[in-house]
Amino acid sequence: MKTPENKKEKKKQLASKGDANDVMENLISLCKRRGFIFQGSDIYGGLAGTWDYGPLGVALKNNVKDIWWKRFVTDREDMYGMDAAILMNQGVWKASGHVGGFSDPLVECQKCKRRFRADQLEPENREKQVCPECGGKLGAERQFNMMFKTHVGAAEDEGSVSYLRPETAQGMFVNFKNVLDTFHPKLPFGMAQIGKAFRNEIAPRDFLFRAREFEQMEIEYFVDPKDWKKSFEHFIGEIRGFAEDVGLPSAKVHEHEIAPADLAHYSRRTIDFEFDWPFGRKELYGLAYRTDFDLKAHSSASGVDLSYYDEEAKTRFVPHVIEPSLGVDRTVLAILADAYREDELGGEKRVFLKLAPSVAPVKIAVFPLLKNKDALTAKAREIYKVLCAEFARGSSGVEYDESGSIGKRYRRQDEIGTPFCVTVDFDTIEKPHNPVTVRDRDTGAQESIPLKDLVSLLAQKLGK
Ligand code: GLY
Repeated sequence: MKTPENKKEKKKQLASKGDANDVMENLISLCKRRGFIFQGSDIYGGLAGTWDYGPLGVALKNNVKDIWWKRFVTDREDMYGMDAAILMNQGVWKASGHVGGFSDPLVECQKCKRRFRADQLEPENREKQVCPECGGKLGAERQFNMMFKTHVGAAEDEGSVSYLRPETAQGMFVNFKNVLDTFHPKLPFGMAQIGKAFRNEIAPRDFLFRAREFEQMEIEYFVDPKDWKKSFEHFIGEIRGFAEDVGLPSAKVHEHEIAPADLAHYSRRTIDFEFDWPFGRKELYGLAYRTDFDLKAHSSASGVDLSYYDEEAKTRFVPHVIEPSLGVDRTVLAILADAYREDELGGEKRVFLKLAPSVAPVKIAVFPLLKNKDALTAKAREIYKVLCAEFARGSSGVEYDESGSIGKRYRRQDEIGTPFCVTVDFDTIEKPHNPVTVRDRDTGAQESIPLKDLVSLLAQKLGK
C-alpha cells in the first residue's frame, strides 16, 4: 500500500537517483571531451559494455597498474609476477566450475524481447513477471552462462571450444607447479598478474562499473592452511593501503562480510570492499579465502600433482589460497567519480578533477604566458625539459601548452586533474631570480617562485 511516507521515500530515492545520473553523465561527458575514455566502437554506434581508453585514460590506468605492481610485486620478496594467456584449455574452465556454474539468472520479455538479469529487477517486476520497459509478460528465469565461447583453430567442434577467460585467477593456478619447480619458493608465497577478463553481462551498466571486457589485478597467495587467517588479515590492510596509494578516501571504502549462504562455490570466507559510488554503495574489490578448492580441482582434472612439500615439517599437502581480486577499471572509475568537482573560481563556474598526484596523467603543465613571443616560448620550453627530466615517470608526464588563452589552458588542466601549472612570463626573463608562477589546481592560488627553487618546491608539493 502507498502511504505518504513511502511515497516520500520513493521520491527521495528517485531524486538521489537523478543526482547520481547527473554525476555519471557529467563524468562520462568529461571523460569523452578530454580524451580519457570513449564508448567502444563509437563510430559504429558503439558496442554495449565496452569502453576504449584514450591518451589520458590509459595514462591514469597505467598509473593504477604500476602502483599495484610496485606494492604487491616489486616491493615484496614473496610474490611472483605472471602474464598467462587469455585463451586456455577448456578443461581449465570445467575444473574451475565455470562451465557448470558461472551464470546469472536471465529473463526475456515475451513482447519486446528485451533481456534482463532477474536479480536486478525491481522485486515487483520479478514477482509479477512484468517487463520494466514495455509492461509485457516476462518469460521463465533461466541460467545464462557468462563466459564468451569461441573455437580455437579451424575446426568448430566440441574439442576446439575455448573461452575468453572470465578471471585471471585460473592462469595462476595452472602455473602453480611451474613456479614451484623453477623458483622453489617456501610458503607463504603468491602469484600476481594483471590482465584482461571478459564476462558476457546480461545488463552492462554504470559506465566502467559493469563492463563486458575489463582488467583485473589478482593475487593467488598460497598458504599453509593453519596460517590462512593471518594472511587474510594481512591483505585486508594491503588492500586498504593500495586504495590510499591511488588517492581513494578511506571513509568511502567499506568492508562487507559476505554471509556464508552467499559465498561463491570456492570460498569459505569473503570480504567485499565496497565503495560509495554516485549510484550507491557497491563492490569495488574482493578478498576471498579459496581454501584448496582450485589446486585440488586442477590436480584431479589434469592428473598432475599440485601439492607442496614442507621440508621442515616433512609433510606434503595442498596449499590453501587467499585471493585479493581488484578491478583496474573499477579503480579508475572510483578515482574519477571521487575526484569530480564543480565549483566557482574567480566568479566563473568550473569543473575539475581532484586527482592524487600519484595517478594524475599530467603532473605539471608548463605555459608561456603568450605564444607569439619567442623569448617566452624558448624559456618555457627550457623549463619544460628540466621538469620532464625530474618528474615524468612511467605514464605520468609533464605537458607543454601554448594554445589558446591562458584562462582556457588552466581550465583544460583543471578538467584533466593536473595538480600544478607553471607559467613563464616576462618577469621570468627580466627580473632577478627569474620568478615563475605556480598555480594550485584545487584553490587556483598562484605563487611567484624563484626559478632556482622550482624543482624542489614541486617535488615537495607532489610528495616525490
Ligand atoms: N577471481 C575472482 C573474480 O574474478 O571475481
